[in-house]
This record gives sequence, C-alpha cells and structure tokens, in this order.
Amino acid sequence: MSQSEPTAAAVYPVPDAFAATARIRREDYERDYAAALADPDAYWARVAQRLDWFVPPTKTRDVSYALEDFRIRWFEDGVLNVSVNCLDRHLAARGDKTALIFEPDDPAKPAQRISYRELHARVCKLANALRNLGVKKGDRVTIYLPMTPDAVVAIQACARIGAIHSVVFGGFSPNSIADRIADCTSKLVITADEGLRGGKTVPLKANVDAALKMPGTNSVETVLVVRHTGGAVDMQMPRDRWYDAVVDDQPAECEPERMNAEDPLFILYTSGSTGKPKGVLHTTAGYLVWASYTHESVFDLREDDVFWCTADVGWVTGHSYVAYGPLANGGTGIVFEGVPNYPNVSRFWEVIDKHQVTIFYTAPTAIRALMREGEAPVKKTSRASLRLLGSVGEPINPEAWRWYHEVVGDSRCPIVDTWWQTETGGILISPLPGATDLKPGSATIPFFGVQPALVDANGAILDGATEGNLVLLDSWPGQMRTVYGDHARFIETYFKTYPGMYFTGDGCRRDEDGYYWITGRVDDVINVSGHRIGTAEVESALVSHPLVAEAAVVGFNHDIKGQGIYAYVTLVAGEAPTEDLRKALVAHVRKEIGPIATPDFVQWAPGLPKTRSGKIMRRILRKIAENAPDQLGDTSTLADPSVVKSLVDERLVK
Ligand code: PRX
Repeated sequence: MSQSEPTAAAVYPVPDAFAATARIRREDYERDYAAALADPDAYWARVAQRLDWFVPPTKTRDVSYALEDFRIRWFEDGVLNVSVNCLDRHLAARGDKTALIFEPDDPAKPAQRISYRELHARVCKLANALRNLGVKKGDRVTIYLPMTPDAVVAIQACARIGAIHSVVFGGFSPNSIADRIADCTSKLVITADEGLRGGKTVPLKANVDAALKMPGTNSVETVLVVRHTGGAVDMQMPRDRWYDAVVDDQPAECEPERMNAEDPLFILYTSGSTGKPKGVLHTTAGYLVWASYTHESVFDLREDDVFWCTADVGWVTGHSYVAYGPLANGGTGIVFEGVPNYPNVSRFWEVIDKHQVTIFYTAPTAIRALMREGEAPVKKTSRASLRLLGSVGEPINPEAWRWYHEVVGDSRCPIVDTWWQTETGGILISPLPGATDLKPGSATIPFFGVQPALVDANGAILDGATEGNLVLLDSWPGQMRTVYGDHARFIETYFKTYPGMYFTGDGCRRDEDGYYWITGRVDDVINVSGHRIGTAEVESALVSHPLVAEAAVVGFNHDIKGQGIYAYVTLVAGEAPTEDLRKALVAHVRKEIGPIATPDFVQWAPGLPKTRSGKIMRRILRKIAENAPDQLGDTSTLADPSVVKSLVDERLVK
C-alpha cells in the first residue's frame, strides 16, 4: 500500500459551489495565516474572544521552548468555565436546538435527540452529585463508559466542577484501567454495567472491579454505575453507587467552578516509544479555543449542520470533536455507539441518511474496510445530505481517498485529511475546504498559527520539496502542557531531540507546492487502525508471561489496519513452541492491554538480532516482518549475525 504519491498527483480544486459560501476562502486563509505569524498576540487575543470569559485575559501568550527557561502559557490570567462555554451560553438562542443525537448500537432501538437545555440539566445534575460525593476542583475522575451521551455528560460535568477527567477507552483491559487510575490517583470512577458494540456486550463494571483489586488503585472512593444494558453486576457497597440513585434527584442547576485559563482540564493517556502510556495533560482555555476554532474552520461549520465524528470519546478525536468542539460551537453532533459493520456494512451510510448528516469524519481504516465490501452497500443509500468528509488518525492512501471521494461523497464533497495528535489538542495540518485544493493522500497545509518544519537527523531545517522529521517551531493554544506527574518526561520526549522545537514523532514529505504528506511514525510507536500502541508496551506484556524470555515487537504495513503488530518471541530455555502457546501469548497480550494490542503475528525467535552492546536491531526485524529480507542492510555489527538467517527462513509473511 503506498502512503504517498508522486507530486504530480491529481489536484482536486475547491468546488466553486463550496467556495461560494465557505467561511474561509483562499484569500482569507493566506491573509490570516500571515497575520497569525506576524503578530500572534493580536491574532490569538482576537480568536480568544470566541469564548465567554468570567474574566477576559489581558495576556495572550508566554512561550519558550528553551530547555533552561521552558514554559507554555496561553491566556494565563483569563478565568472561564468550559461547560459554560459548551452549554449555558447556548441556552438563550439554542436551548431547544439538538446538541446530541444518540444512535444506539442496535438500529431497531430508538435514536435519542438531546437538546442543549436537556444536556445542560443532565450535566448540572451529575456535577452536583459529584460535588456531593466529595469531588473538588483538581481531583481526578476516571471515565470508563460506552459511547453514549452519558460519556459526554460525564466529561462536561467534570469540566463544570473543575475535576480533571481521564477517559479510558472501553476496549482497554482491567490492567490498563488500573495503571491509569494509579498514575493519576483518581478519586472516583464513572462506568456502566455493560457496553454494547456490534451486538456484543462489554463487561465494563466487571473490568473496573478487576482493576480496583490491583495495586495502586485504592485512591478510588466511589464508583458510579450507569444502568445501560441492565446486565447483572456486583455492587460493592458503599463504594459502588447506581448513577440514577445518586444523580436523578439533584438540582438541574449547578454553579460552575471559576477556572483559570491554565488550570488542567483533562488527562488522556497515550502510548509513546518507551515505557507505559503517558498522561497527556491539556488545560482549560487554550484547549477549548483550539478545539472550537479548528472545528468551526476546518469543517466550515454552519448553524444547521449535523456533524458526525465516528471516534469514541476514549480517544482524543472523541474529546475534541465529539465532547468539546461541536458543543462549544453550538453545533449538533452524533454520538454513535455501534461499529461500521453491524448489523451490516451499510450502517454508516444508513445513519447518515437517517439523521441527515452533513459532515462526516472518520478514520482511513474504516474506509479501507468498507471499500473492501464494494460499492453496492454504499450506493443503496442516498447520502445526499453530505457536504463535507473528513479523515483522521493515520495516513489515508490515495486509493482509499479516491473511493471515499467518489463513492461515499459522489465526487461532490471535499475531503479534509486532518493531521494532529493527542498532544496537539486539535487539528494542525489540514485543508480548509473552501480554501485549499486537495491532493489525495496529503494533509496539505498548516492551520493558522501552525509552523511545521522538516528537519534532518541532526535537527537542521530542510527547505523546499524534501523529506524529513516533522517538527513544530512554535506553540499553539491547544498544545499539551505536560505529562501528568512527570514534567521531565514531557521535555525529554518532545523538546530534547531537536532543541528549540516540538518533535512530533512523525516522518513527512513536503512537495513543491508546500503540501505536507505524513509518512508515519519514525519512533517505536505503531499506528494500528488509527490507535497508537507502543512496541515497548506489547513487549512488556509478552515478557510478563512466565514462558517468555524475551520479545521484540515491530509494526508492518497492513491493508486494512494501516499497520499491524508483529512480535518475535524467545521462550525460556527448554520450552518448546506450540500452536497452543502462541494462542496463549496472544490472549495474554489482549488481557494485559486490550484487544487493540492483539499481535497479528508471533514468530518464534531462537535469538534476536542484537548489537554487541545488546541493543535489539529493530530495523532488521521490521524488514523481516515486511517480507523484505533483501533489504536488511548491514548486519556485520551484530553480535551474532547467524540469528538473522533463521529469522528470515522462518518468517511468517512470504
Ligand atoms: O502518526 C500520526 C497519525 O496519528 C498520530 C497521532 O495519534 P493519536 O495521538 O492517537 O491521535 C490520533 C488522532 C488525531 C500522529 O503522530 N496521524 C493522525 N492523523 C493523521 C496521521 N497520519 C497521517 N495523516 C493524518 N491525517
């Protein structure tokens, strides 16, 4: 699968009809991009006025990436509340407008429409309940919920009282929940009896029970349990409380906490190249400015749009473009509990017709999987309501892009291929649909205020059409502020590789039109179906199995998932590899991390290729996993070059 194409690639100009009514046209983009660089203080002070403040900021930015004098602060003396911005300020003009449309997993069940007034009341009730349970400003709350409006309510309720939420994706295992609770010492967990995905139940409460038996989790005082499926759960009193019993009788008004611009809003754990997932910390004002401004601009938002971002709230895309951005903009968003192929592979398109979705934002992996099913499941639906499509999470190969454009969008809808990261809070490189000509496979050009650059291995900035490592030369309001509890790791991970720059971990090409083509991670992070998995995490899960002596994990190109997980495993002396053991190891990784970390291949490795100083040479392992044994390069520095031959001979993809 080719991730990028020659620069002579087809260009899709902005459709005239789109440009005619667009919020931002080419000349607006050029003017504002230049203005944001020329006088960032003036530019962002103006943009910050899109929020409602208790006390407007008098300071705009205070940023230094210099290691000895490091700081990132935006709007630092402003005072505001995020939930007031997402809910209260819409009540007068949009109280009856639909804020969220809930489409359940089972299409036979009724969809729900929740107005801004109703959402406000639900958020206030939960916020009051949380306060009654002793949750105060700055306390951490872990949210482990299915993709239902309750998840958005929980997020907004935390924001209302200044509690820092940490959403854990419902597909993560008890171990992963426990690690995340322990890292931020959560006081309270909000979960549901069970989740529902593709007709199957997910034992959410039971997973929380298992997590809370693990070491380091005794900070949790209360578990609030939403009745979702009605499935049986163990309630351990007084720790566990039914959500409805605690929340339903609360007042529907709740005094919002006055938050400083730089007070933490949430922690979201994401994988890096080393160690355990790190808690990416976002703060209040800069994050909301970024989520709302990018949402409005990149998606060319109109008052009557129905915006559907298919991401789960367990990921950053679900934070910025389900739970925060659309609500801050007074938009109507869809919350979809299900999956693209249940009960059939037309589900996405049927939901688009059912709710008259105008903007649809999903991941390349879903497009590729649905593309495989052919055009018929798409073409039997209308999709006439659509006017804009979006892509996020991984590079979209030009073939999938064209299918998305022609088949899903009937060649009518522009596609915004949005590049960003958990760390960036929102979109950084993307077309603006009324301003930017498109090239399939390219995330195109930077958003206002974003200064990408490509550097070589020594950090020298490269000019013109070239390829290198993607860095950002200056801050933007939505930038993460720290790794929760480990500021040194924040600096080390992002600002030490290339001093004075933020290093993204991505490789990238720039063509002669200045368009950016992300080529994928250059660190030890694998992007599986748009989800980040650290090779170190999978390796440590594998070696925690008693029969495993050593493991090395690499990514390989996968037709549907973008990348898959390929593991090399050395067993302890005397253990014979068997098919049963292979299955047991795969099951063990699923149990330790969650199904998203399932290895696609486990190859038995009598030995791993190492340098004389004992470092595993992943470059060689990657080439073997990619079935490119003729590209191994120099193996002469290996401690024992003979191990390579046996790995090549036994490789699982030929
Ligand atoms: O490698 C890039 C890839 O996803 C990484 C960020 O992953 P995460 O923090 O989980 O956030 C995903 C949703 C924003 C990036 O370092 N990535 C994300 N969007 C794109 C992309 N790669 C290419 N094109 C994109 N549009």
